[in-house]
Amino acid sequence: MDATALPLIIQGGMGAGVSDWRLARAVSSAGQLGVVSGTGLDLILTRRLQQGDPDGLIAGALAKFPVPAAAKRILDTYFVPGGKADSAPFRGKPLLAAQPGPFLEQLLVAAAFVEVWLAREGHAGAVGINLLEKIQLPTLPTLYGAMLAGVGFVLVGAGIPRAIPGILDRLARGEPAELKLDVRGAEAGEEFVTRFDPRAFLGGDPPVLERPRFLAIVSSSTLASALLRKASGRVDGFVVEGPTAGGHNAPPRGAPPLGPTGEPAYGARDVVDLREMAALGAPFWLAGSYGRVGGLAEARAEGAAGIQVGTAFAYCNESGLDAGLKRRVIASSATGDAHVFTDPVASPTGFPIKVVLLDGTMSNAEAYAHRDRVCDLGYLRHAYRKDDGTAGWRCPAEPVADYLEKGGDEAETVGRKCICNGLMATIGQPQVRADGSVELPFVTSGDRVAGVADFLAPGATGYSAREVLDQLLAGVLTEASPVRAGA
Ligand SMILES: Cc1cc2nc3c(=O)[nH]c(=O)nc-3n(C[C@H](O)[C@H](O)[C@H](O)COP(=O)(O)O)c2cc1C
Repeated sequence: MDATALPLIIQGGMGAGVSDWRLARAVSSAGQLGVVSGTGLDLILTRRLQQGDPDGLIAGALAKFPVPAAAKRILDTYFVPGGKADSAPFRGKPLLAAQPGPFLEQLLVAAAFVEVWLAREGHAGAVGINLLEKIQLPTLPTLYGAMLAGVGFVLVGAGIPRAIPGILDRLARGEPAELKLDVRGAEAGEEFVTRFDPRAFLGGDPPVLERPRFLAIVSSSTLASALLRKASGRVDGFVVEGPTAGGHNAPPRGAPPLGPTGEPAYGARDVVDLREMAALGAPFWLAGSYGRVGGLAEARAEGAAGIQVGTAFAYCNESGLDAGLKRRVIASSATGDAHVFTDPVASPTGFPIKVVLLDGTMSNAEAYAHRDRVCDLGYLRHAYRKDDGTAGWRCPAEPVADYLEKGGDEAETVGRKCICNGLMATIGQPQVRADGSVELPFVTSGDRVAGVADFLAPGATGYSAREVLDQLLAGVLTEASPVRAGA
């Protein structure tokens, strides 16, 4: 895709580390929009270095980072030549904080820089980064690192990303930015914020950077319309995501009771009015089960600029998903045995999340029951107001006693899973515990996981990102969409 055109296909951001720089590079080099996941990048970077950075690519990208002392400190702290032993635990990193210390801030900026830098190498196409609105603490340094590396698109979902467009404007100009934090129990007039100052970070005049285009991920035209009117800056388009998409899903409207399978029951009120979307005048892409032959043409007929696809790319050769898990899921798709369950409670965020039912993963209740609750990564903790008026952090998947001590409600802890550790295991970076146990993967996918074997060539056991694109684009005009950003 040339850097000014709009893509027909957006390869959806898939956290954590499933849509890594390799996948995004493969998609962007093939002329569509590759998107890296921005979730947990600081943690993933430290673990890649502890796995020995086999091709030296992480070190190579760090060498381009504009704060060399930060790059050196990161390498000195985490690089393990030859990689750590599989049985050895990963070394930890500082937990996220409202005002990160200098090292954590450097880690956050550098990790996003490295991911986008590597995704952009070797082609002239645009690359995007995906962030979850709900995970607020790393947002500013992550955006800045991505922008220093020339990210072309920022896509944000899982919340109402009203503040992000204005933040992009400020960071592009090198101005300090702040983001208001959602703090449960905050009293009227109380404000909690996280701040980032490019000048202080770089220790000198910040460069003027390209302002990436901003796409909001929404599940209703009402939200899209509100964002166009009330966001803090320009919204360049929307991804409209339906309830069959992989990852987290928006909860059903009106909070109906769960359906007969124990999954959230979606109905007519959850269907997005695409005529209303088209009437807004901004380009939009449809997501959720469009990653199949004919999906792109259907979306274009509805007025969409194209589609965003996740599940099909999650299982392709270039994704960050553990190779053994990929093989098992593709094989189960081929035999008609690949199933997902939309778990209403597993995610500490409170959003439903789709989980692939697979032995030896966190989807197996019995296997998960053996895990001692521990919260050592903390990306999904939420802020609450402590009695002294400051913000505290808690996660409903942490040890129940800790959660209660922090004023949390016991009912909220039931069925919650440590997705942070699960997602790291899913990309081949599982933590090893003191008793020798290893964290289990948590594999999410959309309903289309049943069809991923359709991308296999005869006799093959895997497929490439290019093969996915070829199938999805077959029969559709491949010239750039006439719809322009900001139209
Ligand atoms: C493994 C996986 C992880 C995902 N993680 C995220 C995420 O971190 N943020 C996000 O906005 N969407 C996430 N998604 C959703 C995708 O970006 C995309 O919108 C969705 O997969 C499209 O529907 P499909 O799965 O039917 O192709 C994820 C999807 C998958 C399959």
